[in-house]
Amino acid sequence: MTHKQAKAVAHANIAFIKYWGQRDPALNLPATPSISMNLDSFQTAMTVSFDSNIVADEMVINGDRDLGAAALPRVSAQLERVRARAGVTWKATVISRTNIPSGAGIASSAAAFAALTVAAAAALGLNLSEAELSALARRGSGSACRSVPAGFVEWVAGAGDDTSVAKSVAPPDHWALCDCVAIVSREAKAVGSQRGHELAPTSPLHGARVARALDRVSACRQAIAERNLAMLGQAMEQDAVTLHAIAMTSTPPVYYWIPATLGVIRAVQAWRAEGLPVYYTVDAGPNVHCLCEEPDALEVTRRLAALPGVLEVRTARPGGAARVV
Ligand code: PMV
Repeated sequence: MTHKQAKAVAHANIAFIKYWGQRDPALNLPATPSISMNLDSFQTAMTVSFDSNIVADEMVINGDRDLGAAALPRVSAQLERVRARAGVTWKATVISRTNIPSGAGIASSAAAFAALTVAAAAALGLNLSEAELSALARRGSGSACRSVPAGFVEWVAGAGDDTSVAKSVAPPDHWALCDCVAIVSREAKAVGSQRGHELAPTSPLHGARVARALDRVSACRQAIAERNLAMLGQAMEQDAVTLHAIAMTSTPPVYYWIPATLGVIRAVQAWRAEGLPVYYTVDAGPNVHCLCEEPDALEVTRRLAALPGVLEVRTARPGGAARVV
């Protein structure tokens, strides 16, 4: 009998310049590069136990077997990739513990697939570099490749499977940024990001966004290096709104925003005009991530919490790399 087990922890990440649309859907190769920050307070721990005696993969999420069963097809497909690398066929039991509220609009798949990949590779004794782990995590969920390295992370689009990887551009302590997430809906989104990636090329705006992607990525990279929030914010807001314009002009169209989303955006613009430096971004959902520097985090959180339609505000600081624990 063989039994091999490892546990890993990974953080969710928020993209400043986002991944939307794919060059190769089978390999999750992105149409554009992207840049993100790991979120320290949103994390997932995965324990993966390979066992020669069990006949099928199994998964439990926060003690819930039904949630685990629903996630199993994608998880099994990812385990299969790790097994293929190691040349083994043992099935696995996967125990996931996460504090990322499901349906709260904080991408949980990035943390999940980063932790799963790192734990499974460690359990099978694979000695993979950070870039190899990032490429492998990308196959599970594109944005998961950015939760493998620490802090502020760039995913270079790359030419193929081995080169489409994420790497750290600055460690977590480089810049005391805070992501204040205004949660305006806890409903699971109707259109998942995989479908969104497929629909992107049907929008007449997709080509324009792809054409300017390198400019936004270099502005963002420079803004991080110089800790320039205004420069980061300008690139980040334009990138997010362009993504949503593409979604709204896809065939069929996808509206992720609800009225409260726009309410938060307009409030952020007004606060900025009054001198409070805060900038927004919105993932494939209605909730608004508001980025500011640490000294302003309390004030931004207080103001967000008082807005109509805001159910809750969660905060996160720059997080570390995915790691075996
Ligand atoms: O990794 P996916 O396939 O769930 O796509 C992520 C899409 C966005 O969160 C909207 C953007 C991003 O870069 O994280």
